[in-house]
Amino acid sequence: MAKITFIDAQGTARTVEGETGATVMEVAIRNGVPGVEAECGGACACATCHVYVDDAWAEAVGGPEPMEEDMLDFAYDVRPTSRLSCQIRVRDDLDGLVVRTPERQG
Ligand code: FES
Repeated sequence: MAKITFIDAQGTARTVEGETGATVMEVAIRNGVPGVEAECGGACACATCHVYVDDAWAEAVGGPEPMEEDMLDFAYDVRPTSRLSCQIRVRDDLDGLVVRTPERQG
């Protein structure tokens, strides 16, 4: 398990428990975290699960694979730490992870 904090564009933080092996997108959806839409259900085909990984966690989380990078082109306001949350697996060593959700998806 890993605690994950989602901070929305207004600055509201929500901390939830993420199951190891689930994706950060699944954790957001299961816990009703707003700001993550995940229209394609995690197939890396919609870019509506876009998040910004907090700078302190960017290295631990790592960068996107080429397929994700291509899909990120469709995301709104992409930044250097942008990731698609359906492509980030929860690991025990990501306990405390902080991600921000963009002002809007798509
Ligand atoms: Fe569609 Fe992540 S849920 S790309």
